Amino acid sequence: ARILMVASEGLPFIKSGGLADVVGSLPQELVKKGHEVRVIMPMYLKIAQKFHEEMQLEAQYSVSIAYHEVPVNIWSTTRKEVKFYFVEHKGYFERDGLYGYIDDGERFAYFQKAVLEMLNQLNYFPEIMHCHDWHTGMLPAMCKEGHSFDERYRNIRFVYTIHNLAFQGNFGPEMLDSCLGLDYRIFDNGNVRYDGGISFMKSGILYADKVTTVSPTYSQEILTPQYGEHMEMVLNIRKYDLWGITNGIDIEMWNPMSDPDVPYHYNKVNVAKEKKENKMALQKELGLTVDPNVMLVGAVSRLTWQKGFYLMMEKLSEICAMPIQVAILGSGESGIEEKMRQLEEGNKGKIAFYNGYSDSLAHRIYAASDLFLMPSLFEPCGISQLISMRYGTLPLVRETGGLKDTVTPYNEFDKTGNGFSFANYNSDEMVQVMYNAIDVYYNRPEDWKILVRNAMNTDVSWEKSAETYCQLYAQLHP
Ligand code: GLC
Repeated sequence: ARILMVASEGLPFIKSGGLADVVGSLPQELVKKGHEVRVIMPMYLKIAQKFHEEMQLEAQYSVSIAYHEVPVNIWSTTRKEVKFYFVEHKGYFERDGLYGYIDDGERFAYFQKAVLEMLNQLNYFPEIMHCHDWHTGMLPAMCKEGHSFDERYRNIRFVYTIHNLAFQGNFGPEMLDSCLGLDYRIFDNGNVRYDGGISFMKSGILYADKVTTVSPTYSQEILTPQYGEHMEMVLNIRKYDLWGITNGIDIEMWNPMSDPDVPYHYNKVNVAKEKKENKMALQKELGLTVDPNVMLVGAVSRLTWQKGFYLMMEKLSEICAMPIQVAILGSGESGIEEKMRQLEEGNKGKIAFYNGYSDSLAHRIYAASDLFLMPSLFEPCGISQLISMRYGTLPLVRETGGLKDTVTPYNEFDKTGNGFSFANYNSDEMVQVMYNAIDVYYNRPEDWKILVRNAMNTDVSWEKSAETYCQLYAQLHP
């Protein structure tokens, strides 16, 4: 089918979270399966700076926002047979960050309007529009209500994928007609109304033909108040159209055998030896005490409540007393950043904290670490545990969402498992499992080897999931 993916970020152009990994890798897998896939996203400052030269201007027009005609430029470039479009508006998008601005509602209303008008301008109408997260949640309603008189729009079928229910795009009701050009009728009848205003997320869930999220477990969890983020009632309405499809990763890009950022390449056969070489190189790079035999624990993450950093912060002194080294890469909440800085300060040589984002360092941490820490409070899918397994690094996770679906805990009796896990969001349980992992690492090295092998044998590719997306599309567009 002709598929247009609409998203707020995607690799290799821009990334703030796992959404970008998915938008960067799923399209090319679908192309392999015979679909024609294009992607559209905003032209952020970083994209404009880095990629503008290779882009072509595709269209110029304007859309109406807050009763003004606002210009739109559409640019494009191609990666692996996937055409990427970029919506250019310097005022809205060429800023330091991606989101979190006071006018986010207007920015993404503009984006969605620009996307729909582009179809008309280019006379390119996809059979399926696959929307991701709240930034694109109004598109199904805009087509089915706002453009319902036009069959080119009316015939589009919608998939709406929830990557993170915690971010919902809830705004005041005035947004509806001033920015989105929609009738108050769908506010009055409750369709898009949420907590006195409107919700892009709710609208996406209700108006899409199919709703998906990024793992089977999370698709069940979000039907309950514990994980539903106050959207569980809405999701329950759609529960028969709700699919949970686990993310994969691009296993060519994430390949310890050829990764250009990793100094010592390896596969299942020589992982033990080469991981030690990578470890020593990383220890030098980060100012950790050089010791190939110490267990190195890595974490690459947004430093937010979601990722379980509060559990770690409850147990810092215990973690510091463990016979391990820790390498953390990430940025996020200032309170967590500050704590991590202090931790590094007080434990020179044992704990290293890189505050920021470095794709290249991330690759080296995955390759050098023995254990990867990911004790999330909730986790729609999680990408890092998949990368870890591919790199022979055992994930230690909490059994939630996609972590539960992808990590099988170590079983000392039959030697199965590809990582370690604990059930409850409780720092004592986490520490207990850390001790367990440490014990296996130092005292049962044969078992550790088996686990590493199991991890590297785990299928983390898109193969199966891309097939499931194809089945989903086929239901919409037989
Ligand atoms: C969000 C979720 C993460 C998921 C990613 C891609 O970042 O928090 O769990 O893996 O989206 O779907």
